[in-house]
Amino acid sequence: MKLWTGRFSKEADKITNDFNSSIATDSRMYRDDIEGSIAHATMLGMTGIISPEDADIIISELKKIESEITDGSLKIDMEAEDIHTFVEGELTRRVGDPGKRLHTARSRNDQVALDIRLNLVKECESIDELLVKLISVLADMGEKYAYAVMSGYTHLQRAQPVTFGHYMLAYAEMFLRDRERLADCKKRMSRSPLGSCALAGTTYPIDREKTAELLGLDGICHNSLDGVSDRDFIIEMSACLSVISVHLSRFSEEIILWCSHEFKYIELDDAFSTGSSIMPQKKNPDIAELVRGKSGRVFGDLMTILTVMKGIPLAYNKDMQEDKDCIFDAVDTVKACLTAFIPMIETMTVKTENLRKAAAGGFINATDCADYLVSKGLPFRDAYKITGGIVAACIEKNTTLEELPLEEYGKFSDKFDDGIYEAINLDNCVKGRTSLGGPAPENVLREAERVKKLLNDER
Ligand code: ARG
Repeated sequence: MKLWTGRFSKEADKITNDFNSSIATDSRMYRDDIEGSIAHATMLGMTGIISPEDADIIISELKKIESEITDGSLKIDMEAEDIHTFVEGELTRRVGDPGKRLHTARSRNDQVALDIRLNLVKECESIDELLVKLISVLADMGEKYAYAVMSGYTHLQRAQPVTFGHYMLAYAEMFLRDRERLADCKKRMSRSPLGSCALAGTTYPIDREKTAELLGLDGICHNSLDGVSDRDFIIEMSACLSVISVHLSRFSEEIILWCSHEFKYIELDDAFSTGSSIMPQKKNPDIAELVRGKSGRVFGDLMTILTVMKGIPLAYNKDMQEDKDCIFDAVDTVKACLTAFIPMIETMTVKTENLRKAAAGGFINATDCADYLVSKGLPFRDAYKITGGIVAACIEKNTTLEELPLEEYGKFSDKFDDGIYEAINLDNCVKGRTSLGGPAPENVLREAERVKKLLNDER
């Protein structure tokens, strides 16, 4: 069915129709489209714009159409221009005149703006569920590995001691912020543009607040031009998804490094790794690599929507039909990444003895050695310099701070006594870092608890 019969004396060329069509993308919004139409028809009936009988006929047939599409007995016609055209056409084919009344005081412009919002609100929720799952896995690991000393890095050089639990909770923090961002974005998205109509509202006595309420949205878009033109919420959600992707990608990079032979900090479960077709010894972290790679797609999707929107005047322009492919791609990509990433992390083996070994070899207790001298009364800058000399001597002798004999320490400062070995013991180094947010096991356990409580309190 074509919606604009009347003005035209000729059918559109097939090329035009094919190029114009968005059904391949927007058919995934059939539920949202029907939900919006049901709310609109209800409002039209309540305000007397159409008769209550017509409203009832429309609503009950729309419900049937929805369940038939869902159970597969009604196939969406891929020749239709878009999902809105298809649903309205099918309704009219079935019920006649009442179907033709549904589009009173409505345009596909406000209709599509609503459908995307309804659809993405639900997607925000399902992505949030995945984030919750990931964070809860990380909180468990925070607890489990609160005492597992490892080296923290700067410049990918061993720097200071932390624990694996502390490391996992660092990522938990990022994903917690991602949840906040998504929730905030969802708040602005949960507005009804319905009633903006084509661009200039309508002369019919519609009740926009009622439709918003029926749809469970937080309110209306206050300006009809903006209501049909705004795609900020897509830009914003794409940005949120991009940040999630940055976090997943950084985490993936660590996983890839950590399961390399050079690090051997973790081993991925066989069920979440892959082999090589030629090298029998290989066990590859393909999931992590793909997650890292797919972040590029998600950033690309953000660039797409920014570029599509930047130069178009108010109100609706067909350019805006390009809004859906990119956001749906970003949504699907992030969901797929999280779905694979979570069990990969959950099932990996952490090689705590290797973490420990690497931590012992990296002079990561040098700051603690300097702090020891500070505790003996030296200014930090002097202590720093002395310790630097000791590290250089250790490197030359191919030994560590732990193994350097006291008499050697004595050559650098007379402040050293046996207590130095206590001070630079890695467990003690971590244990002493009790500053808020630091890696001391008592902190890490408390933080893991806090994160878990946060998630639990929401339930
Ligand atoms: N398929 C269109 C889209 O996704 C629906 C809105 C069409 N409106 C119009 N005036 N042609 O943007």
